[in-house]
Amino acid sequence: MRVLSGVQPSGPLHIGNYLGAIRQFVSLQDEHECYYFLADLHALTTVHDAEVMRGYTQHLAAAFLALGLDPKRSVIYRQSDVPEVAELMWYLSTVTSMGLLQRCHSYKDKTSRGVVASHGLFSYPVLMAADILVVDADLVPVGKDQKQHLEVTRDMVTAFHTTYGCDDILATPEPLILDEVAVVPGLDGQKMSKSYGNTIEIFGPEKAIRKRIMSIVTDSTPVDDPKPIEGSSLYQLLRLLAPVDDRSWVEAAFAEGGVGYGDLKKRLFAYFLEIFGEARRRYDELQQDPTELEAILKAGAVRARERASTVLDRVRRSVGMR
Ligand code: ADP
Ligand code: TRP
Repeated sequence: MRVLSGVQPSGPLHIGNYLGAIRQFVSLQDEHECYYFLADLHALTTVHDAEVMRGYTQHLAAAFLALGLDPKRSVIYRQSDVPEVAELMWYLSTVTSMGLLQRCHSYKDKTSRGVVASHGLFSYPVLMAADILVVDADLVPVGKDQKQHLEVTRDMVTAFHTTYGCDDILATPEPLILDEVAVVPGLDGQKMSKSYGNTIEIFGPEKAIRKRIMSIVTDSTPVDDPKPIEGSSLYQLLRLLAPVDDRSWVEAAFAEGGVGYGDLKKRLFAYFLEIFGEARRRYDELQQDPTELEAILKAGAVRARERASTVLDRVRRSVGMR
């Protein structure tokens, strides 16, 4: 199978990104041909400062590698280094109806949270479809919030084939969404997201992360009482981060009481360091060597373009551009 996914360099990476997406990216590398990219063209819909954009891009490149994406096994690249993506986006946009894009939730969600209502934000799903279709991807690991984008990608494949009277120019991708990590909750119980300010960053300073974890919203159940698990972010995060051997301890702590929320949060922080300690050290090293990061991205782009050019050949011919 050919696997593809991307993450926007639009802010510091958080544990929702890791559990919902990047952890799957890492495990898929062993058995599949994988393409993972920094979606910098997408990030331009929310980041309009060149220095900040460069910083987030370097952060994400280092984070990908530190968390275990391996340039020897996967093609790792920056979206803007593969111009075929933007070209394919245009072909797709001429067969995509306005109605299809108007039905997409993400535009409404983002504009209601203050993101500029630009044409780029509106046509974001077409760019995302181009990312996927340009390498003939079969499988796209993402969090649940991206499910609709995969559906509209499939609609665009059908629209393209119907318009040009063919059926095998573009491959039809499937999403890969793991139920247990479909929506990782943030500090306040809403979906953890950069744009909600409720994240636990993976690579931030240790003290700040501890403080964030200690600020997870909980109710006022006394230490000795059993604690509700329904709607409890703390419970869900503990379930997601606890090592297998500790899971029954977590269950019992909530069901039987006797452990206070403060201690449970300290436990969560310890799990966090256990899981991410090594990656955090690697990240610091990688950040020291931007030239090496750049070389890895450039080499990835060469490989991605090889694949993309065969797809574009087919597409250009079908639409009469060659
Ligand atoms: P954010 O919402 O913080 O801006 P992105 O949109 O950049 O995150 O998401 C990058 C990847 O991480 C996507 O595949 C997305 O589905 C996944 N993801 C983001 N937040 C979560 C979450 N809270 N739970 C599960 N997956 C998530
Ligand atoms: N839209 C995705 C997000 O916000 C990022 C993304 C861009 C993506 N292009 C993609 C994910 C292609 C999977 C496949 O998280």
